[in-house]
Parts: sequence; C-alpha cells; structure tokens
Amino acid sequence: LLGASPQKSLAGKRVIVTSGPTHEPIDPVRYLANRSSGKQGHAIAAAAAAAGADVTLVSGPVSIADPAGVRTVHVETAQQMLAAVEEALPVDIAVCAAAVADWRPDSEGGQKMKKDGSGAAPDLRLVENPDILLSLSRHHTLRPRLVVGFAAETENVIEHARAKLERKGCDLIVANDVSQATGIMGGDRNTVHLVAAGSVEDWAEMGKADVATRLVDRVAEMLVAK
Ligand code: CTP
Ligand code: CA
Repeated sequence: LLGASPQKSLAGKRVIVTSGPTHEPIDPVRYLANRSSGKQGHAIAAAAAAAGADVTLVSGPVSIADPAGVRTVHVETAQQMLAAVEEALPVDIAVCAAAVADWRPDSEGGQKMKKDGSGAAPDLRLVENPDILLSLSRHHTLRPRLVVGFAAETENVIEHARAKLERKGCDLIVANDVSQATGIMGGDRNTVHLVAAGSVEDWAEMGKADVATRLVDRVAEMLVAK
C-alpha cells in the first residue's frame, strides 16, 4: 500500500532494559561502582521503542540523556535496580545491559568516614548484590519470554559467554570483547558475539546504535520463533 508504514517488529510488546552502572554507597560521599557509560543499553531501549515496543529503561547513574519515547526509571544501587525491574513486570522481553556492581559495602555508615591520622585504612566488608538477570531468568511466575544478558570479557569470550548463558538461564548472551580497542568502555562502537544455546553469531565492529537496531531485530525474530 502506498505510504503504509512498515510493520513494527515489536508492536504491542513490553520490554525492560537495564543500563548503566550501579553505585553502592560506602558512606554519604563515597561509592563502589563499575565502569559503564550506559550508551549500549540506552541505544537498545531507543531501538526497541522505535520498533514499536512499550519500553521501561531502568538506568543507573549515567551522564547521557534519557532516550525519547521510553519510560526511564533512575536508580542508584543494584537493590533499587532489582526493585524497579520487578515493578515493571510482566514483560515479553528483558535485556540486562547494566554493569551491576557484584558487591556492596555491608552497611552504609550514616556519617562520612574520617581519616584518624594513623595511616590505617578502613576495612570494607562487602556482601554480594542480587543478580537481576538471574532473578528474571528463574522467575517463578513472571519470567519474560525472552531474557537477554550481556557479558564483557577480556579473554576466551565465547567460552565464558556459553558458561554464563548456562549459569544465568537466559536465552541469549551478547558478549563483547573488551580487550579489543572497539570494546573500550565508554566508546561509541562495539564488537559483539551473539551466543545462544547451540549457536554463535560473530558481528562485525559497528556503532552501538547499529548493534542496538540489529539486536532488536534478532530478538523480535526469536520471539516469533519461540
Ligand atoms: N547482572 C545482573 N545483576 C548482577 C550481576 C550481573 O543483572 N548482580 C547481569 C548483567 O547485566 C549482564 C550479565 O548479568 O547482563 C552478566 O554480567 P557479568 O558481570 O558479566 O556476570 P557475572 O555473573 O556478574 O560474573 P562475573 O562478573 O564474575 O564475570
Ligand atoms: Ca559481574
């Protein structure tokens, strides 16, 4: 039909994307964090919205703007990220692109820690954070039909991604080799490998927006095939 808009591949679907780092407070002025610009996760949220999905982006602290056409929920910590994700369920698709801090200080002191002049450093006790991807994959009642995780690796990328796919119980792992120049965190380009049960796709280096668009296309296909 002349002038008809192309069929949107995720029309009517609900999608959650996690993005950015988490900040885990040590005291009121200090935190533990991972490196993450949020660029890839935010681009995926924007691409899913462009494909017609109803998108909730749960973002840790980032310096980039909220994508247009997406419901963005701002959080600081992994615990808050998990709560915001659970709040957004049920969804058809979850994409966990956030670089969640694996551990948090076990108690946030109410006051700023002060040097005592002795040269001694404080002992930071850490406890493990909830695994958001794992809790979505293993959700008893509201498991999204497709759960996608990321894995940033510096060696044996495919092998580690396969192990992660299994351990996390997700449907797809987007693995990126952060030892390559293009994988350098905070950059605008990415080289990824899509690892599913019994298949690997190696994608050429491309911009993060292109990775996002292609990933959304692949995920839409997987949803149809499921
Ligand atoms: N992830 C998550 N919640 C966590 C830790 C990780 O949702 N507490 C998600 C990330 O968003 C990513 C995937 O799990 O999609 C893999 O994260 P990664 O750090 O590579 O895996 P870990 O299981 O934490 O293993 P490790 O850091 O030891 O390699
Ligand atoms: Ca980790």
